[in-house]
Amino acid sequence: KNIAVIAGGYSSEREVSLRSAAFVMKCLHETHYTPWLIDISEKEWVVLHESTKIVVDKNNFSFCLNDKSIIMDGAYIIVHGTPGEDGKLQGYLDMIGIPYSGCSAATSSLTFNKYFCNQFLSNQEIEIAPSKRILSGDTWDAQALVEQLGLPMFIKPNAGGSSFGVSKVKWIDHVDDAIKLAFQEGEEVLCESFMQGREFTCGALLHGNKVLMLPVTEVIPENEFFNYESKYVEGKAQEITPARLSDEETVLIQSLTHKVYRALDCRGIIRADFIYDGEVFRLLEVNTVPGMTETSFIPQQIRAAGFTETEILVSILDNILN
Ligand code: DAL
Ligand code: MG
Repeated sequence: KNIAVIAGGYSSEREVSLRSAAFVMKCLHETHYTPWLIDISEKEWVVLHESTKIVVDKNNFSFCLNDKSIIMDGAYIIVHGTPGEDGKLQGYLDMIGIPYSGCSAATSSLTFNKYFCNQFLSNQEIEIAPSKRILSGDTWDAQALVEQLGLPMFIKPNAGGSSFGVSKVKWIDHVDDAIKLAFQEGEEVLCESFMQGREFTCGALLHGNKVLMLPVTEVIPENEFFNYESKYVEGKAQEITPARLSDEETVLIQSLTHKVYRALDCRGIIRADFIYDGEVFRLLEVNTVPGMTETSFIPQQIRAAGFTETEILVSILDNILN
């Protein structure tokens, strides 16, 4: 069966997505699926085949190779950010009847809005940081924000990933610039209280008809926080999988992640990020298309659980195609 491994996308996370996609392609190579790397950008949608680019028909992701039309049976979405993590591509694939990996359009769209997602989950007794959302066109008052949220505070695009446009603000004079920076990535900005503690991340996925909880990772960035450089430059963060947590703590963070998975009615692989102050795990955010480069958290966690990435990716595709 032909699988469109859809990557790239229209956001700052485009390059990260192409790196994730290269690894997904490698994993799906020599399985009973035939993966095709389809790079979507605002300019064009193309399939990358043996270092040539072939234009893809936007109506159904088919393309012509050696005078033959290649039709897609399913899609593995590995676009981080818009339009692959926010429900748009999911909605489009629903309309044209191509089954895909991962969360539904509704779940993706809720989850990619950090404010909506965290408010929804806090109603399910998941602890989150106090926050304030600013919409494009709104005015804001730095003094009031500092009074409400304290310092330091995190200022970030409300819908984005890989820490693009994110600032840890320690002084009130920096609030305005941080908000303007975050607005460069999108229409909404989220200001959040700083949560003191260690950072952990936990993956979960649907394996057969069961939610499989992956081992937990602790992240210790060298930088002030786990920013773009710590995420993608070798040696800029320590990542420990499985994390040094007691059995009880591990069960706790995994059960919170399980709750998140169920509450949002997720599909495929997700990753939930938390800050732990030694008593409470507070949710930072949920990622419905988590990074899948060879060194990303999810591959680390899959290997620590005793699976290969190929086994997991194939089982996800088997799930949606059979
Ligand atoms: N947004 C990045 C790819 C992640 O969540 O891993
Ligand atoms: Mg993220």
